[in-house]
Amino acid sequence: MDGNPKLAVEGQAPFYLAQGDECDVFAAACASNLPLLLKGPTGCGKTRFVAHMAARLGRPLYTVACHDDLSAADLIGRYLLKGGETVWVDGPLTRAVRQGAICYLDEVVEARKDVAVVLHPLTDDRRILPIDRTGEELQAAPGFMLVASYNPGYQNILKTLKPSTRQRFLSVEFTFPAAAHETEVVARESGLDAGIGWRCWCDLRASCAG
Ligand SMILES: Nc1ncnc2c1ncn2[C@@H]1O[C@H](COP(=O)(O)OP(=O)(O)OP(=O)(O)O)[C@@H](O)[C@H]1O
Ligand SMILES: [Mg+2]
Repeated sequence: MDGNPKLAVEGQAPFYLAQGDECDVFAAACASNLPLLLKGPTGCGKTRFVAHMAARLGRPLYTVACHDDLSAADLIGRYLLKGGETVWVDGPLTRAVRQGAICYLDEVVEARKDVAVVLHPLTDDRRILPIDRTGEELQAAPGFMLVASYNPGYQNILKTLKPSTRQRFLSVEFTFPAAAHETEVVARESGLDAGIGWRCWCDLRASCAG
């Protein structure tokens, strides 16, 4: 889990080749205070897309890789012992809410069930984060945006988002890109020219098929 936000600077966005209108959808969701859910298979560019859009919009980005032991306290924060004193330390979600940053929950369906309870008041019109331990109720700062992703084919059938959680999000579905699109990504990412990128792509596909 990232302790510090990636400082996304407009004009230095990591390369992302759009498949459709997902960049416009992201920008519109951000401008309208709506959370965004990204669905799609591994490697199709979800993480890169979020990093790209955070940079384009000039927003700090907190990324949390969710796993089956990740609890609400990991996102919100907890009291820790520091030099003999007990001090409250914000988790990444709380920091993003206070700062008006983007919080990206990668593979959100892996997280424990108590995480959904935290997300509900944050992802509807209230945009609040109650912190039971400190008695605070934070109103999300302007610019705060929650982005979550999951891979529907990969997760256990029992691990899926509840309809009450899913219906709060705008949703974007990613697929594996067409050959020409993938060739351009390989060429741009590798620094090779498009012809060599194309041959790499063909070799890779052939070795996967074989
Ligand atoms: N549309 C794209 N534009 C630019 N690069 C891309 C694109 N799609 C994939 N890539 C490349 O593929 C790599 C893997 O993509 P990424 O990590 O974003 O996939 P992902 O959907 O987040 O996968 P996972 O579900 O496994 O986390 C990126 O680091 C980047 O090099
Ligand atoms: Mg990813």
